[in-house]
Amino acid sequence: MRRFSVTLLLASLVLSALAKPYSVRQTTDPTDPTDPADPPDGPDGDGDGDDDTNADGNVPDLGDGNGIPDVSNATNPQCVPWYGIRDAILGGIFQGRCGDNSRAAVRLAFHDAGTFSLGLQGLGRPNGAADGSMIWDPTEVTRTENNGLQNIVGILKPLPAQFGVSPGDILHLAGVLGVLACPGGPRIDAFVGRPLPLNVAPTDRLPNPEDPVELLLAKFEDMSFSVRSMIALIGAHSTGKQRFVDPARNGSSFDSTVNVWDVDFYGETAHGTTDPDVFTLDSDRFLANNVSTIMEFHRYINNQPDWDEDYRAAHFQMSTLGINQSALINCTEIMPASINLTTLTINGTVDPDLLEAATQKYRAPWLVPSS
Ligand code: HEM
Repeated sequence: MRRFSVTLLLASLVLSALAKPYSVRQTTDPTDPTDPADPPDGPDGDGDGDDDTNADGNVPDLGDGNGIPDVSNATNPQCVPWYGIRDAILGGIFQGRCGDNSRAAVRLAFHDAGTFSLGLQGLGRPNGAADGSMIWDPTEVTRTENNGLQNIVGILKPLPAQFGVSPGDILHLAGVLGVLACPGGPRIDAFVGRPLPLNVAPTDRLPNPEDPVELLLAKFEDMSFSVRSMIALIGAHSTGKQRFVDPARNGSSFDSTVNVWDVDFYGETAHGTTDPDVFTLDSDRFLANNVSTIMEFHRYINNQPDWDEDYRAAHFQMSTLGINQSALINCTEIMPASINLTTLTINGTVDPDLLEAATQKYRAPWLVPSS
């Protein structure tokens, strides 16, 4: 039965990919400098095309030395309201830290956008998109595949009405801020102006941890991702935890450094780890070892710069799937600087005191004082 349904889905993905008498989003490759989905950047990775990196690896030209752009320096008047929304998410919801809510927001961004299908688009059928339908439609979050997202959906749901903006903008801003809340997380471009969702997202599009590699590849290709982008995106598991795959190990993480956005996930998934608290999804293990994906997976082992750049491009692509990008407004100016892990690392390990000091310096306005 399972083999039959996998075959059926593969066949439907292939058939729908063949039926393309339309203009479609092309599969993109972050390594291609002419790729429009790959935002231009300078060596500092802050997304503005130049190099503002100072001695400690952070970005001093943002804000008053703390890497936090202030509304008083807003350059695009249309972005002004987004400074407050940024603070509501980074402060009120994430409390300035890489925690359960920030991780859930990153996963939610994937589960919202990952229902987009080139095949369905070609057939003119109701499609998924980075449209915020997960916090707009009451039924999507009840699907089994969305287990664990109920809390963050409940938290984000009131924000569109509260701020008078679309669910897609709230959900995908929360996604890019969720990445940034984790030290090491890159500064992804933030675009706003998404319309209201057109429909409830279609079912059976998202990948499962039991899917064979061929099916995972087909699903991501149908979302429009290259193999390299797919493997870069899956690195979001660097700060992830599982609850439902193995409930007996509820809360186990996908690598041994769950509080930082680093590449340990790639090395530990490919080579294994002795850390008893680490749990590896079958899908991640398959992707680390399959002939079609092993090269891309191993590319990021001990290679944070390449992963940063590829992840940034792939997540940006994800945050606009199925959305007319030319109608969006670039509000990347609201995004704080990334916390660079290089200068916090001693003998190959991120030092907890340096990490906390960097968090206090670069995330100060949003932190909750300890009692
Ligand atoms: C092959 C593709 C993927 C599969 C099969 C997959 C599957 C899963 C599963 C089963 C969990 C654990 C859920 C739980 O038990 O609580 C999880 C967690 C997570 N996933 Fe994925 N995932 C995939 C790709 C992605 C992508 C592309 C992203 C984001 C860009 C992402 C972000 C996350 C995050 C951040 C978590 C941790 C959530 C938390 O700690 O609350 N995943 N994923």
